Amino acid sequence: MTGPSPPKRIYLSPPHMGPAERELLLDAFDSNWIAPLGPHVDAFEREFCQTVGVPCAAALSSGTAALHLALLMLGVGPGDEVVVSSFTFAATANAVMYGGATPVFIDSDPNSWNMDPGLLGEELEAAAKRGKLPKAVIVVDLYGQCAEYGPILEACERYGVPVVEDAAEALGASYRGKPAGSFGKMAVFSFNGNKIITTSGGGMLVSEDAALVERARFLSTQARGPAPHYQHGVIGYNYRMSNLLAAVGRGQLRVLRDRVARKREIFHYYQRVLGDLPGISFMPTAGYGEPNYWLTCILVDPARFGVTREDIRLALEKENIESRPLWKPMHLQPVFKDCRVRGGSASEEIFRDGLCLPSGTALTDMELERVAGIVRATCRG
Ligand SMILES: Cc1ncc(COP(=O)(O)O)c(C=O)c1O
Repeated sequence: MTGPSPPKRIYLSPPHMGPAERELLLDAFDSNWIAPLGPHVDAFEREFCQTVGVPCAAALSSGTAALHLALLMLGVGPGDEVVVSSFTFAATANAVMYGGATPVFIDSDPNSWNMDPGLLGEELEAAAKRGKLPKAVIVVDLYGQCAEYGPILEACERYGVPVVEDAAEALGASYRGKPAGSFGKMAVFSFNGNKIITTSGGGMLVSEDAALVERARFLSTQARGPAPHYQHGVIGYNYRMSNLLAAVGRGQLRVLRDRVARKREIFHYYQRVLGDLPGISFMPTAGYGEPNYWLTCILVDPARFGVTREDIRLALEKENIESRPLWKPMHLQPVFKDCRVRGGSASEEIFRDGLCLPSGTALTDMELERVAGIVRATCRG
């Protein structure tokens, strides 16, 4: 005898594929352009540029690879400092370490959870006084919301420090009408499995500067020089995107607008049905732009809600539903314990109380109701 099958697992933000992706992937397969070059790579770059409104793009094997190349092209090396948002995924800070440089962390602005422009200004001023400016600033657009680029770019321009925008999570978002990815000297995106669009794994480096993007293509294909044999004058990397994955990316790009619309719906649904609970608040939407609502993030004040965010996570897990604590700030990570941080308490509090709720675009309304019902039922406030 078999009982009723348990409800299928609800994941945080699984890939969501459609018929166009399948068709384009098969086209790439049948054409035998399998290597990390081919017509879909070129077309994905062109179409991505149109979406983000930036003239040049290089399709790469991951967002991390894009960050690494961006820093390399800015000349970041041993002995240099790079200023980084502390509240981010480790990849942002890891890329700094790959080049032998040291990250300096900046805390979050509680109004956006992104890099606090005031603290960044203080850090740059102090660095100028010390006579050692950072080689670059990496600004992260967290959970699909752009950082406050007005004051951030102004501060960086004042001291002549280049900005790299880590828009890995923010494709489809905007700041004052300009798309994520159009700020700073270069920007990077990720297409890993849980991002708003995915190629299973992949990334993009974009810039206004055609020479930088051409250089990224060169470095990402082992820096092979112009000769019939294999000629190498500098160290290269195996970072180019495969034609198969670019085909998937082209299909995903076509549904980006729908994906953002559904993510927005999911955020507003949770806000509507959970927003009245004592001690629950949502990631603030800064008035300066439009997020892509990649993941719906809540803060749980245990004094008012009656239980902690970990209790909610465990209650969901018991029902086979995945939720996840927010990123643990980099300045709290053992691996970065010796790095400097400016501020810290804002991101520490967000991490302590924050939880990402299931936000996959393929979630049905019934599944969303199940999730929300369990969260409501945990409330003891
Ligand atoms: C903020 C941020 N930066 C960088 C990355 C790295 O991207 P990838 O996983 O494609 O290397 C990610 C996601 O994974 C991310 O969330």
